[in-house]
Formats: sequence, structure tokens, C-alpha cells
Amino acid sequence: MPVTVSFVGQKGGVGKSTLARAFAAVAARGKLKVKLADLDLHQQTSVRWAKTRSARGNQYPIDAEAFATIEEARASSQGTDLLIIDTPGHASPETLEIARASEVVVLPTGASTDDLYPTVLLLYELEHMGIPKDRLAVAFCRLLELREEHAARRYIETAGYEALDGSIPERAGYRSAHNQGQSLTETPDQALNRRARKLMESLLEKVLAQLKAVKSHGKQTENGSIV
Ligand SMILES: Nc1ncnc2c1ncn2[C@@H]1O[C@H](COP(=O)(O)OP(=O)(O)OP(=O)(O)O)[C@@H](O)[C@H]1O
Ligand SMILES: [Mg+2]
Repeated sequence: MPVTVSFVGQKGGVGKSTLARAFAAVAARGKLKVKLADLDLHQQTSVRWAKTRSARGNQYPIDAEAFATIEEARASSQGTDLLIIDTPGHASPETLEIARASEVVVLPTGASTDDLYPTVLLLYELEHMGIPKDRLAVAFCRLLELREEHAARRYIETAGYEALDGSIPERAGYRSAHNQGQSLTETPDQALNRRARKLMESLLEKVLAQLKAVKSHGKQTENGSIV
């Protein structure tokens, strides 16, 4: 089975599809076999973006498909290295199932208390439902100033959770990249790409660490040294 990374949130428009697409593009460039599963059957933001990307002849096309459930997405991702799950606007009972099936769960959020508070509530809920804390990571998106990142990071860390390094500012350059089937790290503006790359690298590091943990736990279990 592939490694599964999901993007979930309590609010709409926070950057779930944006980060899911960016991570898929980074992984595809890294020669991984990626499936981008769009669980938002109404909007299909990621599916439409991937179609534009292919139509424009992008060197790293993304295999994106819409699914009604996480089970369907998992069933069709066999043989891939990475399954990326883009989820609908609001958290639902399905969100927990998605989180359970994921090695890493990313919660994109804005920097206002209006955005941070529901993000922390969702983190509590996921942890309470048995998702290990080290699988959860907050990603700051759509910030207007860098100092917003520092305050938001304090908020999340004080609540006892991890935030990925870096943050994504709100920029027209990212929007126009999306319009052309490109991602956060593929804009014509190198400064924007660098800024996004920092967050993507932090996510990649977390995914690799989780993979290592899962693998070594699997090995220990096979040896009978745990359980
Ligand atoms: N950093 C940014 N700068 C500028 N525009 C952005 C940025 N991030 C996201 N957007 C734009 O904001 C809108 C919402 O972003 P996105 O679709 O990623 O959010 P979402 O959490 O997936 O939303 P939904 O809950 O509706 O699925 C999109 O039009 C996207 O292009
Ligand atoms: Mg979306």
C-alpha cells in the first residue's frame, strides 16, 4: 500500500486543495508514483487542476481522480508510492476515517483566532479518537505578514501540537499558477517558490519520519518484540 497523506480542515477555503496539489507536484518531480484523490465530489478542484496541468503539457502530470470514499481511493491507489487525499470543506465523520488511514494528516489554517480555534478543536478531536499526535501537523496558509506566522505558531504549540516550518503567504502569483495547472513551487516568481518549498520540505521530512516509524514498528512486531 502507498503512504497516505491527507489534507483536512474544519473550515472551507483554508488551503487544503492548494497544499494537496503542491505536495503531489513535489512528489511527482521527485519521481514518486503519486495518486491525488479528490474526495470533494462537488468541487473536484484538484481533478480540474490536474486536467489543466496535463492539457498544458506539464512535464510532471498528476494522476488525480474523484472518489466518494477513502476506501475507493485506497483501492485504486495500489501500486503507487504516495496517496494524497484532498478532502471537502468541512470536517465530517469521514474525516476521522481518512485520518485513521493516513500516515500524516495536515491541517491547513489561516492565522486568525477564528481559523486557529477550530483547527485546535479538530486536533483535539482527532487525538481523542486515537490518532497519534505525531501524525498530525498544522500548515499556515494565506498569511498577509510574516509576524502572523510567529503568533500562529505560538498558538498551535501552546495547545501542544506541531506546526510545519514556514508558511504560505496570500499572493496573486499562486492563484495564477493554479489557473495554469501549476503549483505553489512552480510559479514564475522564485521567491514565491522558495517560500512554498520550505513548507513542502518540512512536510516531506515528516512523511519520511512517519514512514520510518511505521516500518520499524512493523519489523519489531514481526519479531514479536512488541505486542
Ligand atoms: N496562498 C494563497 N494565495 C492566493 N490564493 C490562494 C492561496 N491559497 C489558496 N488560494 C486560493 O484560495 C482559494 C481556496 O483555496 P483552496 O481551494 O486551496 O482551499 P480549500 O481548503 O481546498 O477550500 P475548500 O474547503 O472549498 O475545498 C482558491 O481559489 C485558491 O486558489
Ligand atoms: Mg478544496
